[in-house]
Amino acid sequence: MKISRRRMLSQSLYIAIGSLFVPISTSFATSNSKHLSKGLDLIHKVLSRPLDVGISHLEKCLISNKVDIENHDGFKDYINSLVNVFFGHHHGEDEIMFPTFEEKIKGADFSKLKKQHKELHPLAEKIKDKVNIDIPTIDNYREIRELLKETKDLWVEHRDEEEKTVELDIEPVLSSKEQIELGEKVGKHGRSMSKPATLVLPFLIYNLEGSDREEFTSRMPWILKKFVVPVIWKKKWEKMKPFLLV
Ligand SMILES: [Fe+2]
Ligand SMILES: [Fe+2]
Repeated sequence: MKISRRRMLSQSLYIAIGSLFVPISTSFATSNSKHLSKGLDLIHKVLSRPLDVGISHLEKCLISNKVDIENHDGFKDYINSLVNVFFGHHHGEDEIMFPTFEEKIKGADFSKLKKQHKELHPLAEKIKDKVNIDIPTIDNYREIRELLKETKDLWVEHRDEEEKTVELDIEPVLSSKEQIELGEKVGKHGRSMSKPATLVLPFLIYNLEGSDREEFTSRMPWILKKFVVPVIWKKKWEKMKPFLLV
């Protein structure tokens, strides 16, 4: 099918506009002063679900001893998006969030959380290497499943520790305004690292459901969440559909 130049131009415009709104924010407006922990909870949910989805997809393939070639491209996009969001989120914490906390709270020690990031990253890199092949074997799938399991164990420990630290030690000493400003900064930083938006944005939105999705997308323009992502970008992300909540 021939796509007109005008249509191509409008599609690239939508992609460019949409890219400006990819939210890897760590603060959300809530009725109380728990802006940071609400934001962290949502983005951590986005990062947690794909680990379980990935493991159970591979388990199924291993049990039937068959590689799912039909969905492999979608699986690749899904896992690559996970790794990109993972890196973007941690980079924002290392470069902006932790230094801000250290500056505000004398004697604060984030060495354990930083060390956990450093342990998680080589695993994520390995997963990316193993998944980005055109013709995977069942042995590849076994290796990826093991790496995902290892990542999940470390991630759950890190996530719980970080959420506890932010909720109990950080939030009580930061004003609502400070929390929102910090979240905005981290969000802006995350946007610059979330590429391609045509995969990352649907990955973020459709790994959440119900009130979590509503809250997460509450500041996105209507046209982006109801038209650009589900309609205009659909061809770009629909291979990931079997792994998303759509
Ligand atoms: Fe985090
Ligand atoms: Fe972290």
